[in-house]
Amino acid sequence: MSKVDINKSWNYAAAPESTAHIQLKKKYDLFIGGDFVKPLSKKYFDTVNPANGEQIAKVAEANKQDVDRAVKAARKAFKSWSKLSVKERGKYIFRIARMMQERAREFAVIESLDGGKPIRESRDIDIPLAANHFFYYAGWSDKLEYAFPNKIPKPLGVAGQIIPWNFPLLMAAWKIAPALATGNTVVLKPAETTSLTALKLAELIQDSGLPKGVVNIITGAGETGAAIVSHPDVDKIAFTGSTEVGKLIQKSLAGIEKKTTLELGGKGANIIFEDAAIEQAVEGIVNAIFFNQGHVCCAGSRLFVQASVADVVIEKLKERISTLIIGDPLDKNTDIGAINSTEQLATIEKYIAIGKKEGADIYQPKCQLPKKGNWCPPTLFLNVSQSHTIVQEEIFGPVLTIQTFRTIDEVIEKANNTPFGLSAGVWTEKGSKIFKLSQKLKAGVIWANTFNKFDPASPFGGYKESGMGREGGLHGLKPYLKFKS
Ligand code: NAI
Ligand code: MG
Repeated sequence: MSKVDINKSWNYAAAPESTAHIQLKKKYDLFIGGDFVKPLSKKYFDTVNPANGEQIAKVAEANKQDVDRAVKAARKAFKSWSKLSVKERGKYIFRIARMMQERAREFAVIESLDGGKPIRESRDIDIPLAANHFFYYAGWSDKLEYAFPNKIPKPLGVAGQIIPWNFPLLMAAWKIAPALATGNTVVLKPAETTSLTALKLAELIQDSGLPKGVVNIITGAGETGAAIVSHPDVDKIAFTGSTEVGKLIQKSLAGIEKKTTLELGGKGANIIFEDAAIEQAVEGIVNAIFFNQGHVCCAGSRLFVQASVADVVIEKLKERISTLIIGDPLDKNTDIGAINSTEQLATIEKYIAIGKKEGADIYQPKCQLPKKGNWCPPTLFLNVSQSHTIVQEEIFGPVLTIQTFRTIDEVIEKANNTPFGLSAGVWTEKGSKIFKLSQKLKAGVIWANTFNKFDPASPFGGYKESGMGREGGLHGLKPYLKFKS
């Protein structure tokens, strides 16, 4: 077995993406009723580049009155949008998709600049997938009567949508596209650390000629989100974010007729059997946890390796992560970008300290981290058990816990033993094992011999504390409809 040389330093030719073609304003207002309007709050906050801590732009902070203005605009637009022919509706959504493709490069660079993710991921995954969501749901808008036979599907009205910072434009697309396809209007709030691609989307929507007020994009932090949730004229809440805030939202809406979908945290199990293609599985482990710095609700953050191959898998994994390039998100060679915020970095570091304190063995390859900005090296924890905090709680960073198992029943029991149930991965050559695990694992998404693969046609959502409802596919339309017979 080869020994890992942790002192090896990796040199590579830097290949930074140019920012010359991107257009950003110094200050962004709220997008309400088809126009950018000054916030009644008169307040703005900074959005910063997490790779160097520098301010990129100022963004408006919407207060209760601003939220009310946005909801009124959406309500007004609902009258005509909900009555528009389904063909016309589809054309508008299709146009947004086309324009997003045309502007993909600019969206990708801004996504990486504002949020810290590697440009390769923004360019190859986030932005194309966001456009694909609009294409996919554009196609549904004139087929709802076939999707729900013997029922008359009716839109709900104004949808309040609150999204997180890990996939900013993609989450906006996940939320907006099905809402529009079903004839609803939207008030969307991006997360406070990643407002810029949502605001660029607002510009795109303005240019697309979508009727004014059909989509309103307002910026701000938790208070702004809470004001959307509690607004009496919002008919539906779609939320993606922490389990903590998801529970708060659900409590605050108890007894109120407001349809709610919650897509919350996860603690995905990634299970490697002894008969798996090992090299491929090691790549899969790396992708499952280090994709987007591990800021992924469905990340494979708990690795389970069958004991007979544990040594070889762990050795290969250590070797592989020592080759990962950490640094400038705009560099095309970068594998791990910046941690999204100083707050999130503090959370990750807190969990790393807890892991060590509770007696787990830590492994981090030697790597040079940039001096400015928020960074965390890829981190493995060995010798962990089910009761460890780092095995039970979502870390949302590049931190992987590693456990071993002997039998399939043992791993099913361990994999299911957290409060979450969003995703899982299974690596084996045996179809029967895949079949058994896909029946027994309590998770909304189960990947076999792959991980973190997404498609607009495929429903996504959680069991247990990972949330309620599904997004994507036909299932993603239902939460935006009520039915008459
Ligand atoms: P968060 O849940 O506070 O933020 C998500 C969104 O909710 C943001 O737009 C935020 O402004 C908004 N928000 C915050 N408080 C609200 C409230 N009371 N009412 C309505 N909206 C509110 O998540 P945060 O604090 O940024 O991250 C904390 C942890 O949450 C992470 O470490 C991670 O474990 C988890 N998380 C999970 C995500 C997922 O995709 N499931 C996404 C983001 C965070
Ligand atoms: Mg928060």
